[in-house]
This record gives sequence, structure tokens and C-alpha cells, in this order.
Amino acid sequence: MPQDIRKFQQDKILVSPSILAADFCELGKECEEVVAAGAEMLHLDVMDGKMVPNISFGVPVITSLRKRNQAIFDVHLMIDRPLFYTPAFVKAGADHITFHVESSDDPLKTIECIHSHGCTAGMSLRPGTPAEALFPYLDKLEMVLVMTVEPGFGGQSFMEDQVPKIAAFRREILRRGLQCHIEVDGGVSGKTVEKVVAAGANVLVAGTAVFRHPEGMVAGVQALRDAQDKFDSAL
Ligand code: DX5
Ligand code: ZN
Repeated sequence: MPQDIRKFQQDKILVSPSILAADFCELGKECEEVVAAGAEMLHLDVMDGKMVPNISFGVPVITSLRKRNQAIFDVHLMIDRPLFYTPAFVKAGADHITFHVESSDDPLKTIECIHSHGCTAGMSLRPGTPAEALFPYLDKLEMVLVMTVEPGFGGQSFMEDQVPKIAAFRREILRRGLQCHIEVDGGVSGKTVEKVVAAGANVLVAGTAVFRHPEGMVAGVQALRDAQDKFDSAL
């Protein structure tokens, strides 16, 4: 049975390292190491070369990782047909599946499909897409994912102009009394984390800042968790 991210409070920082920044020759080992370093989730960036201009990895890699790793698998589908591929990613071991509002499949049908397989559902949006594009779906989602870089590549610079979008989601979620985590992805590091947490995000994706932290993964995870006291429950 998939693990349920609803067991976590919405004001608790959760760290979800993106394996895109790991050494793929040592993937199993690095994933074990990052979980031992305190990460609650593994962020798995799937790209199809169509919705984004890059190709990463897919079902076989996730299937193999699942055999050795019990962390929450936070699958970020940057693919054009998330509805079509959802059953395959569930079978591979996904716990949570996020897809993009810019993809070609019907959002409501995709959410329904993810839920029908026992997983939690998330939606994401490109930096150029306004928060309001996801508002009609918020009551059906367990997480929204705010991109703070253009999706497609790790190691890009954090887009500060996306911070108000995080706050807009936080306000809307509070206003409607919804249970929905806010995840942020792209250029999140010890330097940028306070801004996203102060704006109301609690699930932090970081590739470079965790897997390539100069002082190691424990320091990378801790630098993100250190922002816990910046979370503003009253936003
Ligand atoms: C970008 C991916 C991100 C990326 C983050 O399209 O969705 O998850 O790997 O990498 P960093 O943390 O290096 O910006
Ligand atoms: Zn991602």
C-alpha cells in the first residue's frame, strides 16, 4: 500500500531530495544515504522530452529503487500524458504523484486515476502559469508543487518572483480550510529556503543543495530543516 503524506501536519517541514542531482552510477547507495541523512521523501523527476526539453528516467529506475528503499516516493511527472502513465508509475512504487496543469490529459480524470490507485495527488505549474490555474482543483489535491525554476533541469537559479505564488496558495488553502501541502522545487538551498518557508511552503525539494552539499548530505538536509521556525502558520 502507498504511504500517505496526509499523516504529516501542513506546518511541518518535509525534505524531498531530487535524485536528478545524484550520481546515477551509485543511485541505490546515494538514495539510502540521503534517507539515512533524514529526508522523509525521495523526489523523482520524470521527464519525457515533450512537456519539457529534457529526458530523465522512468518506470524501470523507480521499480529498482523501490526494492531497496522504503522512503515516500514523491514522483514529479513532467510528461505530456500523465493519465496514461499513472498506472505504470503506481506499479513501480510511487506513493505520491504530481503532474502538470500544462500537460495534455484532463486534470480531474488524472487526479481520480491517481486516487483510485491509492496514491495521493499533486498538481504543479510552470513559473509563467498563475496560481489561480490550480484553484479549481485544490480541494481534490493533497499537495501543490510550485516551480521556482523552468522545469527540465536541475542546478538552475531560484526564481524569487515565484515567492508570492507560494503565499497565494497558502492564503487560498487557509481561506477554504483545505488540507494540502505546498511543495517548492527548483534552486532551493540554505540560501533560499527561508523565503519559501516564510511564504508558507512546507515540502522542500532540493537536488544540488542536498546531494552535492560540500559538507555532505546530512548538512544539506539540516540546512533546509533549520528554516522550520520561519514557517508562518498565520499567513
Ligand atoms: C526541475 C526538477 C527539479 C530539480 C531541482 O525540473 O523538477 O526537481 O531537479 O534541482 P535543484 O534543486 O538542483 O534546483
Ligand atoms: Zn521536480
